[in-house]
Amino acid sequence: MAEVIQSKLVWAVYLLHLLLLISIHGSTSDSISSEGFCAVNSGSDCGLPSPYTKILIKGGTVVNAHHKEVADVYIEDGVILSVRPNIRVPDENIRVIDATGKYVMPGGIDPHTHLDMEFMGTATIDDFFTGHAAALAGGTTMHIDFVIPINGNLTAGFEAYKHKASKAAMDYGFHMAITKWDEDVSKDMGVMVRDHGINSFKFFMAYKGTLMVNDDLLLEGLKKCKSLGALPMVHAENGDAVVEGQNRMIDLGITGPEGHALSRPPVLEAEATARAIRLAAFINTPLYVVHVMSTDAMEEIAKAKKAGQRVVGEPVVSGLVLDDSWLWHPDFTTASKYVMSPPIRELGHGQALRAALSTGTLQLVGTDHCTFNSTQKAFGLDDFRKIPNGVNGLEERMHVLWDAMVETGKINVMDYVRITSTECARIFNIYPKKGAILEGSDADVIILNPNASFEVSATSHHSRSDTNVYEGRTGKGKVEVTVSRGRVVWENDVLNVMPGSGKYIKMPPFSYLFDGIDKSNAAYLSSLRAPVKRSSAAS
Ligand SMILES: *[C@@H]1O[C@H](CO)[C@@H](O)[C@H](O)[C@H]1NC(C)=O
Ligand SMILES: *[C@@H]1O[C@H](CO)[C@@H](O)[C@H](O)[C@H]1NC(C)=O
Ligand SMILES: *[C@@H]1O[C@H](CO)[C@@H](O)[C@H](O)[C@H]1NC(C)=O
Ligand SMILES: [Zn+2]
Repeated sequence: MAEVIQSKLVWAVYLLHLLLLISIHGSTSDSISSEGFCAVNSGSDCGLPSPYTKILIKGGTVVNAHHKEVADVYIEDGVILSVRPNIRVPDENIRVIDATGKYVMPGGIDPHTHLDMEFMGTATIDDFFTGHAAALAGGTTMHIDFVIPINGNLTAGFEAYKHKASKAAMDYGFHMAITKWDEDVSKDMGVMVRDHGINSFKFFMAYKGTLMVNDDLLLEGLKKCKSLGALPMVHAENGDAVVEGQNRMIDLGITGPEGHALSRPPVLEAEATARAIRLAAFINTPLYVVHVMSTDAMEEIAKAKKAGQRVVGEPVVSGLVLDDSWLWHPDFTTASKYVMSPPIRELGHGQALRAALSTGTLQLVGTDHCTFNSTQKAFGLDDFRKIPNGVNGLEERMHVLWDAMVETGKINVMDYVRITSTECARIFNIYPKKGAILEGSDADVIILNPNASFEVSATSHHSRSDTNVYEGRTGKGKVEVTVSRGRVVWENDVLNVMPGSGKYIKMPPFSYLFDGIDKSNAAYLSSLRAPVKRSSAAS
């Protein structure tokens, strides 16, 4: 497979040169903005010239989040033009794909990844090309990555990520982390929302000394997010207590990967989750909790939702299907690949998270794809605190979830579409352009054969890592075809991807989560029964 990508790469680099030549000679496309990014509504000529074909997907079961039917899907120039039974089109230059007995679904959208991110003295091994290749081979056609500011500077961080993403092979959007607070940061948040299509900001309550924010900053951030209609996101762990827990393990002489799990138990995740939820309630803003890993944190979210608060909980695949016994594995390479934060928990947490996902308490699934290879993981050979945190999942998410949730009867195919694609598109305000198979939606489509099976292995995956946390996992359901923006990019186990063909998707503020916030603000103000008019000071 690597060879296939490589030959495509050579071809793509050639095309890229050609395109550069063309644009240098004056025929630049209007739809390429001054930033070099394509806007959300730009035409099909944005990006590389690609051999767009007209595609007719015949006879499959077309699945949307609220409906499924046997129908044909007709695609032209990267957009879905028609969805209905028995579409008839003149058969010149049309690629017909038979999907009889298979599911035709919106491509997956992964809300949580870290491609080409500098972290813990190294950088994640998958960049915006290898990460996208992996994603597309696994049926994911869009993701939202986290821009990390440079020394707190949002603009500098955005510029850097724009550059990293210039080799994108599928559509992507950005969240942005907030790591310090001053007037410039506050002002730049507005610029990011208004000019750059960012509608969510992440606050790390852990990673003391690098990314961590205190309550003071979190409160400022929540207020600012609310005023911009941008969704605040939190990595919820008590970072001060994590340091205490780490010191405790080192003092006890526990320096291996198991020390990672022992140093940051579920109570620290639950505490920070509860704190963030309560502060968001105090500010009256929606909140998104990334990588919910424990029953304890999930129950805080369930409680808040039951009380009517707008809290979105995002489990990740590793937390749903793995358990922490791997961290006790005698082989360091094996054990260390499972190190991520918050940690993968004891057996039982995953089951509770899957149950919460099946009932809607948790709403959508990410991966936190943040991959380091075994050489990088070995930085922490003598000290678990130095093991770069992160696991893979971008390529495996769709398959593992299908197997764990649909094959086991926990959810139906429509719920599957909702948790892997539609809900993400709604929360980040790009529905129904993304997350649906409807007339006018982007042609990001997968065909899944429920009778075929998948198998995960580091020897066949498309990530650049030499390890895989789902090594050896097999299951039913296989993505046989991936269509990205109207191009067949994955078929017969062969990838056909081009660096530079992915587009930046701008995401507007004020998603449905903000509907009615103004009314509840007004209700709050009118409930204060203050100020009280008092007679002048007592004599
Ligand atoms: C999968 O199996 C089911 C049940 O046996 C059958 O109805 C369906 O047509 C099969 N689909 C494919 C693509 O083989
Ligand atoms: C942030 O970075 C941008 C781009 O590199 C630069 O123009 C700007 O001056 C920086 N802002 C601050 C406050 O340093
Ligand atoms: C891991 O990645 C680094 C940096 O790209 C590379 O030097 C190293 O050889 C890789 N290790 C393995 C086992 O692939
Ligand atoms: Zn993350």
